Amino acid sequence: MSQVDSGSPVGVALIGSGRMGAYHGETLAQRLPGARLVAVADPAPGTAEKLAAGWGAPAAYTDPAQAFGDPAVEAVVIAAPARFHTDLIVAAAQAGKSVFCEKPAALSLGDLDRAIDAVRAAAVVLQVGFNRRFAPDWAAARALLDRGVLGTPRLLRSVTRDPGGFDPSWVPADTIFNETLIHDFDTLRFLNPGAEAVEVYATADALVEPAWKDRGLLDTAVVTVKFDNGATGIAEACFQAAYGYDVRGEVFGSGGMATMGDGRATGMVFSGATGRAIDTARSDQELLAGAYVAELAAFVEAVRTGGPAPVGGEDARAALAIAKAAARSVRENRPVTIAEVAR
Ligand SMILES: NC(=O)c1ccc[n+]([C@@H]2O[C@H](COP(=O)([O-])OP(=O)(O)OC[C@H]3O[C@@H](n4cnc5c(N)ncnc54)[C@H](O)[C@@H]3O)[C@@H](O)[C@H]2O)c1
Repeated sequence: MSQVDSGSPVGVALIGSGRMGAYHGETLAQRLPGARLVAVADPAPGTAEKLAAGWGAPAAYTDPAQAFGDPAVEAVVIAAPARFHTDLIVAAAQAGKSVFCEKPAALSLGDLDRAIDAVRAAAVVLQVGFNRRFAPDWAAARALLDRGVLGTPRLLRSVTRDPGGFDPSWVPADTIFNETLIHDFDTLRFLNPGAEAVEVYATADALVEPAWKDRGLLDTAVVTVKFDNGATGIAEACFQAAYGYDVRGEVFGSGGMATMGDGRATGMVFSGATGRAIDTARSDQELLAGAYVAELAAFVEAVRTGGPAPVGGEDARAALAIAKAAARSVRENRPVTIAEVAR
């Protein structure tokens, strides 16, 4: 692992600077005193140069391998499309760089094992982008669980509503499970500490873009997850909500219940002739801005101290196994055990 001087900011390279990467890059450059953005790598011509110049990052590359070979880079933040994640994690780890990787860390369990093995062999830090764990409501619910206030979890719920506006021709098969609900699967595990999923039953459809159903699009789904401590979780998602971006959660235990998230953009309530209204958040980066910054702060701290990361490769694997079971459950219209997909 790179030796990090505890007094100096951690040198981080951004790998992939699209919609999510641009937000992370800005965080590394401007929002986190413990990090220094030292390079941006993106194969799209001109993209890395433009962003690096705007943020004052000293290096811009079109090939991520150049960033992995840069001695100023101690750690990388990967926000490339999901299909590239495994190879990028492996290459970064083999170059001795710690890795923060956006979810999903891989699209198959075999690939994820390859990434986890490379990270272990290199003894670097791996953190995955399950940002909901870092949102204040979710962190507060987990604190109640850890203090025993909620007792034993019995029922769990995690909900994602995306704002829509997607191009169905750009949505790979099973995206709703692998890339959207994977947040909810991780959240269910986060809210049921120490328990693991054993069986999954899912139903899904194309209700936003019905014309694409025959071509394999699923844009609306409900997934039931049975855990080994007897608790049952429900995860549900839809790619289009008329009112914006909305994530919510609930944990109901023997000692009480915690509910998380209300989709509000601000705390302001407008009262007028037609009644009372609140503004809703329109994007993930608007609703969960603080969580995106907090997860990178935790990563930088893990790199500085030598880890472990608060949410790592095994968490990514457990959530991906639920995603794989959910996709198979829809295809075969039956409950699917985790043992069936995780072997
Ligand atoms: N945690 C969250 O809430 C959240 C939200 C949005 C996106 N994401 C994740 O972030 C990742 C990126 O999503 P996005 O919406 O920013 O995509 P995007 O298409 O907007 O950006 C991807 C960028 O990666 C670049 N790229 C392509 N191949 C590359 C490679 N081999 N190496 C490096 N860069 C490469 C592209 O040129 C592009 O600039 C996805 O895994 C997605 O699931 C997470």
